[in-house]
Amino acid sequence: MLEKAKGLAVDALFMDLEDAVAPLAKQEARENIIAALTGGGYGDKILSVRVNDWTSQWTYADVIAVIDGAGVFLDCIMLPKAQSAEQVIALDLLITQLELANHLQPGAIGIEVQIENALGLVNVNAIAASSPRLETIIFGPADFMASINMKSLVVGEQPPGYDVGDAYHHILMSILMAARANGKLAIDGPYLAIKDPEGLRRVASRSAALGLDGKWVLHPDQVDVVNEVFSPLQSDYDHAELILDAYDYYTSAAGGSRGAVMLGNEMIDEASRKMALVIAAKGKAAGLVRTTAFEVPA
Ligand code: GLV
Ligand code: MG
Repeated sequence: MLEKAKGLAVDALFMDLEDAVAPLAKQEARENIIAALTGGGYGDKILSVRVNDWTSQWTYADVIAVIDGAGVFLDCIMLPKAQSAEQVIALDLLITQLELANHLQPGAIGIEVQIENALGLVNVNAIAASSPRLETIIFGPADFMASINMKSLVVGEQPPGYDVGDAYHHILMSILMAARANGKLAIDGPYLAIKDPEGLRRVASRSAALGLDGKWVLHPDQVDVVNEVFSPLQSDYDHAELILDAYDYYTSAAGGSRGAVMLGNEMIDEASRKMALVIAAKGKAAGLVRTTAFEVPA
């Protein structure tokens, strides 16, 4: 499984000590993860380990084992079911000691949190501001649906009977706002129906449209759909680059030092430039190459 993951076109990988590992297998899983991390071969993928949450008996020992055993190979610890800023601070303090004890660069190991219950969502702004180590806020739909008693077993899909909008809009937007207000990444969680790429596309498209930065995949077959959904269309990427060039030109002395001008049928100004920067950055990150050029008007 991990060997296969090394070759996938994903930005990040996480190894699990939490819900995918039975209680009696936790110790062995720690050892397997340390061996997998020290074995290397992951290129520039971000590597995280999901430890057990602070209400369990395992969190402290998970963190100690993984950082003592393979801290230098690790980018982030992922804390599931995060419920308060204090929980993140507690993890931060533990990591700080382990970095010192293992002669790792201070602050090198980041934190990712999963928002998976009502208390976590209610506290998401404080969680987002809790630690400079915090890099990423992730929506955990399966646990979240269970924790609020949502009447559905299909993770990420609209619950039957709710036909007046998107049941996840408030949750995703709250996570996104907390992330953006604090300069963190916002990531959508898993879609469990692996054999349903169209369902995955539908659900992923919603979070991509809102502005989230990515989505988990659980299986190699989900990678292409999610990469496609989170990348801009070629035409949008070209358009964004055109706006940036045009804006550069028209705001320059040669272009008349103008702040608002027409580009084709649309008016562009500083806000358009900011929107174009977002799409252009996403396009570049997805490896798109520009197919049009701005021409200075004669
Ligand atoms: C992921 O951990 C989830 O609960 O959806
Ligand atoms: Mg979960």
